[in-house]
Amino acid sequence: MRKKIVSVVGARPNFMKIAPLEREFRRFDHIQHLTVHTGQHYDKEMSDIFFDQLGLSKPERDLGVGSGGHGEMTGRIMIEFEKACLDLKPDMVIVVGDVNSTIAASLVARKLFIPVSHVEAGLRSFDETMPEELNRRLTDCLSNLLFVSEPSGMENLKREGIDMTRAHLVGDIMLETLQMFLPAISKAAKWEGFGLERGSYALVTLHRPSNVDSLEALTEVIEILETIGLPTIFPIHPRTLKRAAEFGLADRLERIPNLKLTPPLPYIEFLSLMEGCKFVFSDSGSVQSEASFFNIPCLVGRENTERPIYLREGTSALVGRDRHKIVDLLDQIRLGEFRQAGPEIKKLGTRVGAQIVDIIVENLS
Ligand code: UD1
Repeated sequence: MRKKIVSVVGARPNFMKIAPLEREFRRFDHIQHLTVHTGQHYDKEMSDIFFDQLGLSKPERDLGVGSGGHGEMTGRIMIEFEKACLDLKPDMVIVVGDVNSTIAASLVARKLFIPVSHVEAGLRSFDETMPEELNRRLTDCLSNLLFVSEPSGMENLKREGIDMTRAHLVGDIMLETLQMFLPAISKAAKWEGFGLERGSYALVTLHRPSNVDSLEALTEVIEILETIGLPTIFPIHPRTLKRAAEFGLADRLERIPNLKLTPPLPYIEFLSLMEGCKFVFSDSGSVQSEASFFNIPCLVGRENTERPIYLREGTSALVGRDRHKIVDLLDQIRLGEFRQAGPEIKKLGTRVGAQIVDIIVENLS
């Protein structure tokens, strides 16, 4: 009998994680793979553009929940996703990453006795002030199959008493997506559109509440941007833009010499800019893995990371908003003394989707 699998996506970092899964499920005639979009992110540039560019199938349902407080958003996703599940009757639900859509959909599915697979399981920042950390832990408790991206994830799950027969170390799906689109990324040379040369500029993304939701933090971020001393491309997230306007910092941001503010960029454009930059300054999770893949120094604007492999084997360094640390590392980068990514990184993005899909299909039969 044909089996139906529903992958749930909601926020920008989810969409790329589905591309290798969609491709691999096509190998099986007896599997119908559908996507449900919760609508947590809704702007064209935060959502639709990724579906177009990654060639993802149109979601079977868009729950249209939009933004809101954590409780409100999670609650609305649960209400709408329960209706979708009752209607679509999936044999399995796949959730990815650590956003509110991830935990909301897992809880709904399990209460309807639908098995759940979690892609990017086991990651821990050990920082419970991050909403994502609670989402990660709770989703892992609920999931029947746990697909882990790096060895630290297996250790974390074991320590938390998770039944390890459910956990599979498969590698980092973001790196597989990157490799699927590498020819297009490498051809794009998007820095040319900014009048820049390869290796001559910095790339910045910052949107975490801890960096942008208070006047003090956002002021410190702006001070760092004023220190960089290289042309800097900053695709600004809607949250950051709103906060800069609320705190009266928008003018100061716009006046930084050589800072090029753009709206959030599509996948290929963003990764092309990453491949060609001198270094990245970012508080994103997955940018740490992508920068390591390209062997581009990645200064992580956070005090911790749930992806320690990219500190150890990759090119990530935790800098928070510490200007002294950043200045020291910028010197190293200028002198070509910043550490290089190890060979392990490329292996982390090999056959990730195929392994996940094979295990799911075997489990369903
Ligand atoms: C989510 C994830 C976070 C992820 C981030 C990436 C959770 C708990 N957090 O945050 O891990 O790094 O997405 O973006 O799920 N907004 C728009 N248009 C949009 C989306 C958001 O204008 O399409 C605005 C909202 O009105 C709101 C802010 O941006 O003011 C929220 O942004 P963000 O922090 O990204 O969204 P979350 O869904 O909270």
